[in-house]
Amino acid sequence: MKTYGILGYPLGHSFSKKFFTEKFNQLNLEAKFLNFELPAIEELPAVLKKNDNLNGLCVTIPYKEEVIQFLDEIDPLAKKLGAVNSIQIVRKGDQIKLKGFNTDIYGFLESLKLFLGAKRPKALILGTGGASKAIAGGLEELDIDFKFVSRNAKENCFTYTQLNANIIKEYKLIVNCSPLGTFPKEDTCPDIPYDFLSQEHFLYDLVYNPAETLFLKKGAAKGANTHNGLRMLHLQAERNWEIWNQK
Ligand SMILES: NC(=O)c1ccc[n+]([C@@H]2O[C@H](COP(=O)([O-])OP(=O)(O)OC[C@H]3O[C@@H](n4cnc5c(N)ncnc54)[C@H](OP(=O)(O)O)[C@@H]3O)[C@@H](O)[C@H]2O)c1
Repeated sequence: MKTYGILGYPLGHSFSKKFFTEKFNQLNLEAKFLNFELPAIEELPAVLKKNDNLNGLCVTIPYKEEVIQFLDEIDPLAKKLGAVNSIQIVRKGDQIKLKGFNTDIYGFLESLKLFLGAKRPKALILGTGGASKAIAGGLEELDIDFKFVSRNAKENCFTYTQLNANIIKEYKLIVNCSPLGTFPKEDTCPDIPYDFLSQEHFLYDLVYNPAETLFLKKGAAKGANTHNGLRMLHLQAERNWEIWNQK
C-alpha cells in the first residue's frame, strides 16, 4: 500500500495525519499516512528501509534544517531558505532518491497574494523563529520591504518597545510569526500599539487555532483587514500532495 508520513518530534499536535487520511478517503485511495516521531533525525535511513512503500514525507519541527543532509536534491527556493518541509521519494528498483522542497513558503505566498490583491505594503514580521524565515523569503519573492520585530535588540530589527505611530503608519502589513494567541493561551497577543492600526492595515496571523486570535480581533476592531494561518496550512499540504505525485 502506498505510504506517506510526517517526520518530527514531538508530533502530538500534527494536522497532517488527519488531513491526508481524509484526502485518501475522499479519493477512494488505498494509502496510509504514518507519524514518524523520531527522537533523532539519524533514524531516517532506517525508516526508509523499513517502509519500502513510502512515497512522500512532510517534515516539521525540529527537523526542517537537519533533514537537508539526507537529500539527493533540493529545490532552489528551499536551498535559499535553508529549510525543507516536504520530501518527494522516488524509487527505481533498489535505488531511492530524496528531493526536498519548501511548501510553507508556497502556502504563505499564495495566500498572501489573495489577501493583498495588487497592494505591496511594507511589512513587519513579528518573531524571529523558524517560520519567520520562510515568511521573509516569501516577502522577498514579492519584492515587499520588511523588518523583523523581536523581544531582543538585534541588527536590522525593531524591538516591541520601539514600535510607535510612525512605524505602524509606514508598515501596513504585519505578520505574526510568534506563537502568541495559540490555544489554550488565547488571551495573549503580540505587544504592538494596536491603537495606531487603520483600515489600510493588513494583519496576517500564522496561528490558526483559534481561527480569530486576539491579534486579529484587536486589528479588526480598528478596521484592519485580517487573515489567519489556516489557508497557508491547507495550501502547503495540497502542494505536498502534488509534489509527491509528480513523475
Ligand atoms: N499556518 C501555518 O501553515 C504555519 C506554518 C508554520 C508555523 N506556524 C505557526 O507559526 C508560529 C511560529 O512558528 P515557529 O516555528 O517560528 O516558532 P518558534 O521557532 O518557536 O519561533 C517563534 C518566535 O516567536 C517569538 N516568540 C516566542 N515566544 C514569544 C513570546 N512569549 N512573546 C513574544 N514573542 C515570542 C520568538 O522571536 P523573538 O525571540 O525574536 O521575539 C520566537 O523566535 C507557531 O504558532 C506555528 O504554529 C503556522
